[in-house]
Amino acid sequence: MTTAMSRALVLENFGSLPRLVERPVPEPRPGHTLVRMRAAQVGHLDLNVVDGKFGILPELPAVPGTTGCGVVLASGIHPEGTLVRLGGKGLGLRRDGCWADHALVPDAAVEVVAEGTDPALACSWFSPAGTAWAAVHAVAKVRPGERVLVTGAAGAVGALTVQVAARAGAEVIGVVGRPAKLAHVPAPAKSLLASDLSAEAVGGPVDVVIDTVGGPVLRDALPLVRPRGRVALVGYTAGREFTVDLADFLLADVSLLPVNLMTRGREIAADAEALLADLRTGALTLEIERHGLDGFSEAAERLRSGEAVGKVVLELG
Ligand SMILES: NC(=O)c1ccc[n+]([C@@H]2O[C@H](COP(=O)([O-])OP(=O)(O)OC[C@H]3O[C@@H](n4cnc5c(N)ncnc54)[C@H](OP(=O)(O)O)[C@@H]3O)[C@@H](O)[C@H]2O)c1
Repeated sequence: MTTAMSRALVLENFGSLPRLVERPVPEPRPGHTLVRMRAAQVGHLDLNVVDGKFGILPELPAVPGTTGCGVVLASGIHPEGTLVRLGGKGLGLRRDGCWADHALVPDAAVEVVAEGTDPALACSWFSPAGTAWAAVHAVAKVRPGERVLVTGAAGAVGALTVQVAARAGAEVIGVVGRPAKLAHVPAPAKSLLASDLSAEAVGGPVDVVIDTVGGPVLRDALPLVRPRGRVALVGYTAGREFTVDLADFLLADVSLLPVNLMTRGREIAADAEALLADLRTGALTLEIERHGLDGFSEAAERLRSGEAVGKVVLELG
């Protein structure tokens, strides 16, 4: 009898790229679901794991990939052929994850997805949609008529934040780092280059900044906020640090508020699901870059460098 084989990206050393290998399809076992993968996300968190720079790391060798989507092959709880999303329960962190043609995962890491959903969307929407909702509604508490500046506005979180803030009735200004990304800021936001950020370019003080980029961009955006305004900080792709003059900070009277999807996941889950329905119909948009398993190094490089637009996903099978 021949053994069925499956491709997987296997991480052997932190700090180097995972290697594409052929290995036997995992054997089904009780309490676990065997999935033929269709898509797996390459996210900033996954790259931090590859680099060995995250608080939870797997024992090596390991298959990274914290979220994915595929079709059930064998399971005690789901019929064969069911479209499912995989995530949580330590996938890609404490145990093998989704960067493979097949994944054997605990039943609790499996969630059924509506038939017909694009697998690449199913595995990548939750984090940007949930974070955008948390930033706009739970943290910044954007009100109709407010002026909201969003940085990294062509990124996955940024682009959805622009759309969620506009739906909340805000006037939105989207800021990007590269000229090529100006065209990717979703309507109806006005778009602007980070290098051109000034009170004049923005058209006067803003009520809220939602920052997905950090570093010098956050430093330059802070003075644009009106007294008693809010800054919601989501990410730090452009730098983990910035310095602030405490006297200026007190005078400015602007609140700097962290957005943490991990602590707000349950709170915003239903709203994120509603956003998925709109992403499926095209009422909201999330750009997705698609790569093959053998194109992983290019996918990772585009995400790391900031060249990528929207989500980066490996298409499998
Ligand atoms: N707080 C939370 O709970 C939470 C949840 C989800 C994500 N995040 C974080 O939020 C951030 C944005 O996530 P995302 O999915 O929207 O990422 P993304 O799609 O990669 O967008 C991030 C933006 O940052 C800029 N950028 C990327 N790499 C850069 C680099 N090396 N140097 C300078 N700028 C760079 C790019 O914008 P420009 O080209 O326009 O400069 C890019 O569009 C990430 O740090 C992610 O880890 C946080």
